[in-house]
Amino acid sequence: MTTVPAGAISKRDNVVVFDTTMRDGEQSPGASMSLEEKLELAKILEEMGVDVIEAGFPIASNGDFEAVRQIAELITESTVCGLARAAAGDIDRCAEAVRRAKRGRIHTFISTSPVHMKYKLQMEPDAVLEAITRSVSHARNLVDDVEWSAEDATRTERDFLKRCVEAAIKAGATTINLPDTVGYSYPSEYGELFRDVITSVPGADKAIFSAHCHNDLGLAVANSIAAIEGGARQVEVAINGIGERAGNAALEEIVMALRVRGDHLPYGTNVDPVHITRASRYVSAITGFPVQFNKAIVGKNAFAHESGIHQDGMLKNAETYEIMKPEDVGQGATNLVMGKHSGRHAFREKLKALGYELGQNALNDAFGRFKELADKKKHVFDDDIVALVDDALARGSEKIRVSRLRVVAGTDGQSAELTLDIDGVPSTAEATGDGPVDAVFNAIHKIVPHSAALRLFQVHAVTEGTDAQAQVSVRLEEDGRIATGAAADTDTLTASAKAYVNALNNLFARKEKSRPEAAIASGF
Ligand code: KIV
Ligand code: ZN
Repeated sequence: MTTVPAGAISKRDNVVVFDTTMRDGEQSPGASMSLEEKLELAKILEEMGVDVIEAGFPIASNGDFEAVRQIAELITESTVCGLARAAAGDIDRCAEAVRRAKRGRIHTFISTSPVHMKYKLQMEPDAVLEAITRSVSHARNLVDDVEWSAEDATRTERDFLKRCVEAAIKAGATTINLPDTVGYSYPSEYGELFRDVITSVPGADKAIFSAHCHNDLGLAVANSIAAIEGGARQVEVAINGIGERAGNAALEEIVMALRVRGDHLPYGTNVDPVHITRASRYVSAITGFPVQFNKAIVGKNAFAHESGIHQDGMLKNAETYEIMKPEDVGQGATNLVMGKHSGRHAFREKLKALGYELGQNALNDAFGRFKELADKKKHVFDDDIVALVDDALARGSEKIRVSRLRVVAGTDGQSAELTLDIDGVPSTAEATGDGPVDAVFNAIHKIVPHSAALRLFQVHAVTEGTDAQAQVSVRLEEDGRIATGAAADTDTLTASAKAYVNALNNLFARKEKSRPEAAIASGF
């Protein structure tokens, strides 16, 4: 096995890990996170060893401002960063949000490609150059650590890009990011871009170059690795690869690619991969975005061996089919089946092995729910426990909760009687429908009138057997806003009601968060 041991690589050869799960990741349609969830995620990222946490876009909403501000106060090891456009109002608001950070960064950006300058900014190239100098200088007057990004760098005319980079470095940018904003680049091209810019722009040695890749062609991770080969020493990533459209490069994939193939690319990171599974599950639980089964590193099948030949090889020597160990990324020995006689201690150990560390209240709550499940189900498998804990995490701060559900189904018609608690106050309705799920959703509509359209309803069994828990995902859309919800229960209809209500809660939280287009001060 060629894994490079942690700490074997000198700091000089470290790649800075910049996590944007809470900024670009939260821009995924439907992936809104509450303030409490962001604070918890920031703690996980810091514990993991992430160098820079991009916590939000402070001018975009009061919610984003507050998240960046509170994370800046909470986090002491990682740098806390906020995003700002090339406008004085944006930069001032961002500076205010990171003011109390032990290490604070302003990340300011402007588009540099012909198509963005002409249609989006409606600015001439010379005006963009001037804006770069003004915005970066302004940010540098407020903080020492300034990152500048050339939005749509990979579709920018090369000489112009170099002039922009030179201007940003002269104005005081300490990190230069060349994003593949639309996920258009090929690895060989993207690596060459970094090599060329770093070797030909005067002053390039004064800055750290950064890669920020989108996954529209499924090349985000490959492009980020190529950028490192070309001289980049920061990668901008998100847990589970969430982000705009097809997402960003996945943190876990880049960290493990560097670790496992240290023979090929001798650069390490400060990330301790043992926290990866916990972070992945937490992000999936709070966003309601399931992790695809075959997802590299964190998918449920990433370390599963199904064929007889593979299983035989694994039993003889794990290196036959595994290039890294599940324990390296925080997946423990996970085959201990739990049942109704399992105690609190075994349950806590099981949670640890599955990558969860819960506080006392959350642990008590999860244990109670585990006991309820064990009463209904003979064997409680690891996946049942993961579904149960994720379900509790997703429901942590909900305003609307499912309190009671009774459904009549069969050949004579379907009806549902449902009680929801709204801010603790119960409200009941009865409805019929075209099938039992429709009846349940109609009852929710009666109690909480809304105009959101159901865009996705998906059910899958967590484990096998007729007593398996059903995991339900729901996606709603209202006025272009999308929100996702997920829930698990041995009763498919209860899981459906909870998933719908979870999506509604997320939709309402999203509505509260957004406010009319924030005034963009053109104060320059
Ligand atoms: O994709 C992109 O270009 C961005 C910038 C704001 C860095 O997210
Ligand atoms: Zn992006």
